[in-house]
Amino acid sequence: MNYKIALIKGDGIGPEVVGEAVKVMDAIGEKFGHTFEYTDILMGGCAIDEVGRSYPEGTAEKCRACDAVLLGAVGGPRWGHSTDPDKRPETALLSIRRDLGLYANLRPAALRPALAESCPLKNDKGIDLMIVRELTGGVYFGKRDRYQTEDRGEEASDLMAYSEKEIERIGRRGFELARLRGKKLASVDKANVLETSRLWRQVMHRLAEEYSDVEYEDVLVDNAAMQLVRDPGQFDVVVTENMFGDILSDEASMITGSIGLLPSASIGDAAPGLYEPIHGSAPDIAGQDKANPIAAILSVAMMFRYSFDLPAEARAIETAVDAVLNEGWRTADIAKPGDAVVGTLKMGELIRAKL
Ligand code: IPM
Ligand code: MG
Repeated sequence: MNYKIALIKGDGIGPEVVGEAVKVMDAIGEKFGHTFEYTDILMGGCAIDEVGRSYPEGTAEKCRACDAVLLGAVGGPRWGHSTDPDKRPETALLSIRRDLGLYANLRPAALRPALAESCPLKNDKGIDLMIVRELTGGVYFGKRDRYQTEDRGEEASDLMAYSEKEIERIGRRGFELARLRGKKLASVDKANVLETSRLWRQVMHRLAEEYSDVEYEDVLVDNAAMQLVRDPGQFDVVVTENMFGDILSDEASMITGSIGLLPSASIGDAAPGLYEPIHGSAPDIAGQDKANPIAAILSVAMMFRYSFDLPAEARAIETAVDAVLNEGWRTADIAKPGDAVVGTLKMGELIRAKL
């Protein structure tokens, strides 16, 4: 098969880690008989510099002409201060999620066996959970307002709204993923306070009857934050709304002790899906061959699994990554004193050699 891949290399370390991910893709192509055709797409801070806006005209159309999108990282302090939405990198991220209909954000947080000692928590069960974050609704996309009041100064509001349909489609994703994994689903909400959460819970309970083979529980978001540090091994799939998912997925990634290793997928009902490392653009180490390319490389594995239904190719990548880590090779972000530290290029090369 020939696959068309859109590359949004983005800012900071984005181009370096995408570079290594592409080489891994090509190596897989050779081994398994696929070819990949790449299209570079300008988006993020670099697009602000080149064409004056983070999300240039036609970005979504160019992505839609491809089978999947691989994104490095966008943003950085250089572009952090503008009040003009066109000049903020985040605008591009939210726009592409909306325009490509990427309502399901899959963020696995797994402790890789070789790095078990990096986990900052005491845990004997290991960590292997998947956060399924709703990505195109809720407070991120509700009406925003800012106005003067007569007696209370300025006031601002952000509307959080969810429809049954939006909840049901992300809920189904959660249950379906749980079926493919450990058959456990935790739905996180704030139903003791928020009306959107009460509707969320109502829809989830309806689905739970349909998916009676999946062990289901409701968890309030504050408790979920606590349980994640108390006993992360208890979770399999966690499904939640947009902002709770934003916060909990950062927490979950940190407890694995190796944020540089974690990939993510954003998918909708139609291609293309978008794949990206969880980490940011790390401008402080950009261009120095120091970034860890593993999260980008594992994002390619997710692309093979979720967009192309190529599980053997996905497993080949994951096995190669674990083999290199088992041999003790580390990039600086995951190194302990005395470890063999390698740069971005060398880490990519070591992984390809295992394929
Ligand atoms: C993420 C990021 C984004 C989000 C920001 C950069 C808009 O934090 O992907 O988690 O909040 O969704
Ligand atoms: Mg976030």
